[in-house]
Amino acid sequence: MTSSFKPVRKAVFPVAGLGTRFLPATKVLPKEMLPIGDRPLIQHAWEEARDAGIEEFLFVTGRHKNMLEEHFDYQPELMDTLEARGKKDLLEKVRGSEMPAGKLFLTRQPRPLGLGHAVWCARELVGNDPFAVILPDDVIMAPKGCLKQMVEAYNDLGGNMVAVMDVPRQDVAKYGVLDIGADNGKTVSVKGLVEKPEPAKAPSTLSIIGRYILQPEIFGHLAAFEKGAGGEIQITDAMSKLIGKQPFHGLRFEGTRYDCGSRLGFLEANIAFGLIDSELGGDVRHMIDRLSGSAAPLKRSAKGST
Ligand code: UTP
Repeated sequence: MTSSFKPVRKAVFPVAGLGTRFLPATKVLPKEMLPIGDRPLIQHAWEEARDAGIEEFLFVTGRHKNMLEEHFDYQPELMDTLEARGKKDLLEKVRGSEMPAGKLFLTRQPRPLGLGHAVWCARELVGNDPFAVILPDDVIMAPKGCLKQMVEAYNDLGGNMVAVMDVPRQDVAKYGVLDIGADNGKTVSVKGLVEKPEPAKAPSTLSIIGRYILQPEIFGHLAAFEKGAGGEIQITDAMSKLIGKQPFHGLRFEGTRYDCGSRLGFLEANIAFGLIDSELGGDVRHMIDRLSGSAAPLKRSAKGST
């Protein structure tokens, strides 16, 4: 550990966005409750944080988002019923979604003014500690969790860190993009950041996805409430101001990232997780073959199931 930086024990989950790309599904249902496989997006994110050694989980929620905290509650009636029916596997799964007592902290973002503003809303909960930020709509399939990879790199390098991946140049306008200094193939030192650049003007194609480790000094810059790309208070603009004052690195994580904030990415993630599901994987493969016209239709059983 770089001696001047504390370990990361807190993670902020900004979950106050409107999820307009999934309307009308997200009219009442929080986007972060949409499931990939048998777990909602927020649980995937929480598990990744927990596996990275995070001990305090800070949710920035908004109107119509109470379901997110309830998902992690103990549900006595449900547990009793599963117990009475001898459903041991399901009991185990439900237990795996319970938050340890006293580890979930909630704050509100009154209006969805942008990711930077949502993170700023967590300032009192974060205090003077380094913290991770996890966007639950980025789901990462990896042998070792993305945040765990970042925490390990942070323990060597300290400072601030973002998870990055190369994207096709025509797509950089959807991301915060790095201006790169020294690059050892795994970590890159960051010279500058641009939010949603025009493809021709982007300093590179190395783009930030929804995982960050930040020092608390970011809050001073977020408090300026500067509106950036799209008229929103962007975290990228505040992060830029830390460059040169503290170490700032990008980590090329190992794994595949699915943009579950978009409908196509969400579908792709469900198929990818379905394919590696121990119960369903074979059937999912067959279904894909069938839908793409390369296999015979599945025979229906008498009950109508396949
Ligand atoms: P998105 O940029 O995907 O925005 O947010 P969104 O509102 O959720 O979805 P669309 O674009 O309307 O479909 C990325 C993450 O940041 C959170 C979201 O909840 C999501 O987890 N967020 C975004 C906030 O918490 N507050 C905001 O003001 C904006």
